[in-house]
Amino acid sequence: MVRVIISGMGVEIPEASIGNDELVESFNAWVDAENPGRAARGEPPLAKSASDFIVHASGIRRRHVHTLDGILDPARMTPRIAPRPDEALSVMAEFGVAAAQRALADAGVTGADIDMVILSCSHHQRPYPAVAIEIQNAIGAEGAAFDMNLGCSSAAAALHVAFNMVRSGAQRRVLVVTPELITGHLNFRDRQTHFIFGDASVALVVERLEDGAARPGRFEVMDTRSWTQFSNNIRTNFGYLLRAGQDDTSVIRMEGNMITQVGNKVFKEVIQAATRFISEFLGDNGLTTEDVRRYWLHQANARMNAMIMKLVLGYEADQDKAPLVLDRLGNTAGAGAVIALKENHADLKPGDHGLLCAFGAGYSIGAAVLRMM
Ligand code: COA
Repeated sequence: MVRVIISGMGVEIPEASIGNDELVESFNAWVDAENPGRAARGEPPLAKSASDFIVHASGIRRRHVHTLDGILDPARMTPRIAPRPDEALSVMAEFGVAAAQRALADAGVTGADIDMVILSCSHHQRPYPAVAIEIQNAIGAEGAAFDMNLGCSSAAAALHVAFNMVRSGAQRRVLVVTPELITGHLNFRDRQTHFIFGDASVALVVERLEDGAARPGRFEVMDTRSWTQFSNNIRTNFGYLLRAGQDDTSVIRMEGNMITQVGNKVFKEVIQAATRFISEFLGDNGLTTEDVRRYWLHQANARMNAMIMKLVLGYEADQDKAPLVLDRLGNTAGAGAVIALKENHADLKPGDHGLLCAFGAGYSIGAAVLRMM
């Protein structure tokens, strides 16, 4: 088995952002417009959303969005992303390439040095051609490319695959790309979820230690692990078979077929599963929870991360031990833990251990033990 490093990391955060107040204002304007009609039909009124609740329940204050146009318009509440001709780079590939180019530059390599591209994210723009192949083409890579999908654990699961591909000698240098364009699939009219997600794209270059520049500031990947257990508590039913279930086949209905979650069940069940997973995974690597200098956790909910760290460590973790980025970015699905890693690693010393751990829909958990070189 060869030793494996993460030689480059790239993060692309869209410029546009939405604060809780603006988001709630748009939601509540829509509720005000809906409720008279509901009253006339004898239906119960829709409840309003509240900024105070959002901050208290999740810790989220803002989220960045790929395309702001359309989201806050109560008559639309969906980003307006123009369709592109097949010859043009697709929106998802473009978002992925932006992060990929940064990761390649960080690793000091070019697309031609990559022999496998894995696109892994929560929502895919289309089934085929795989968006990974489009990215492979756009960056000038050769070899193989394929798409993966594992909810918020998408990047961690792809890192698990990339690590084992490189470790076994099957591939030399793998690019993992996670463009999370979630706002296109988010129901901004759903009070339970409208405030949760934001868009961001991340990429990692994973390669042999002997090939990578052995300069400080790179991480050796010591081990990776992936775990899943079926749950309906975070679900989307959007898919091509929807059309076959309708009388009117000219459109695919989105209402009722976007992201839904039973947040409080996810909260409790994932905390338990993640806590157990972290302790076992570290133990199997001969590490105690105290041996880990920093935890880069999935960025879904500040209270959730605080409780996981309290259970894992036995005391409250601070921003230094388990940094949060969700307050300004929201839940960026698979991208979140990688953004926390990218933004919070420069102060680690050679030999320091860190744990990247993502969790979410599936349920799924994915993690990597990293050691600063
Ligand atoms: N504004 C105001 N009040 C709201 C609201 C909103 N937008 N959404 C829900 N509420 C209300 C509910 O109606 C409920 O009111 P009630 O007590 O009068 O019935 C109350 O707030 C509590 O609702 P609940 O759903 O139990 O909230 P919560 O404290 O669990 O927080 C989440 C909701 C989504 C923030 C939280 O459950 C969560 O983050 N879960 C984990 C999500 C996750 O990790 N997902 C995995 C990755 S994708």
